[in-house]
Amino acid sequence: MTQVGVLLSGSGTNLQALIDACCGDFPARIAVVISNKKEAYGLERARAAGIPAIHIPHRGWGSRAAFESKLSETLRDHGVEWVACAGFMRILSPAFLREWPWRVLNIHPALLPAFPGIDGQAQALAAGVRIAGASVHFVDSGTDTGPIVAQAATFVNPTDSREDLLGRILTMEHKLYPMCLRMAVEGRLQVKDGAAKVDLAPGEALLLVDPALLAAQPRGA
Ligand code: GRF
Repeated sequence: MTQVGVLLSGSGTNLQALIDACCGDFPARIAVVISNKKEAYGLERARAAGIPAIHIPHRGWGSRAAFESKLSETLRDHGVEWVACAGFMRILSPAFLREWPWRVLNIHPALLPAFPGIDGQAQALAAGVRIAGASVHFVDSGTDTGPIVAQAATFVNPTDSREDLLGRILTMEHKLYPMCLRMAVEGRLQVKDGAAKVDLAPGEALLLVDPALLAAQPRGA
């Protein structure tokens, strides 16, 4: 059973999807959840599931390196082999990533490389795209620039509010992240020549499509 550490800063609905996946026939266990925000609801979700939930503030260490050393030490103390960022609002430094070489995944609410950084959903709405979605990628030292593992697509209506689109994308995220984490912990995911290589299991795909995307016929605002 592979031990996974989850890093987050917020509500933790993706954490919940991973916790729920781990309840079933899943080859991983969430060994620890770490938040840089004390009030993150994700910590509550972890506690409710009996998972160690640890607040490590990003301030007060004197340096980013010291904060990240504490992160690494805590992850190692819990036997973690893979790290899943799930709404973790800090950029991880090259030094941290060297300690976890191609062992850190992230989920981003946009079809990368479009709309990296803050609020991918609002960026998609502002750009007027018709298709939006989420990406799971390996973390490198850029902002949402690491090798893409798999993506999930849904539709955008011109009349969508940010919350409409956010909710539709989140629903897809909750399917995408457990699927990608399974690939990782089963040893079927690696990076070669700067690209993610996936050994697909029967029935798996690197693109999940919201069935409503195919039915949707956006007609203008
Ligand atoms: C998600 O939209 C994820 O893609 C992004 O941060 C958000 C986290 O949401 N990285 P939650 O805390 O998992 O609900």
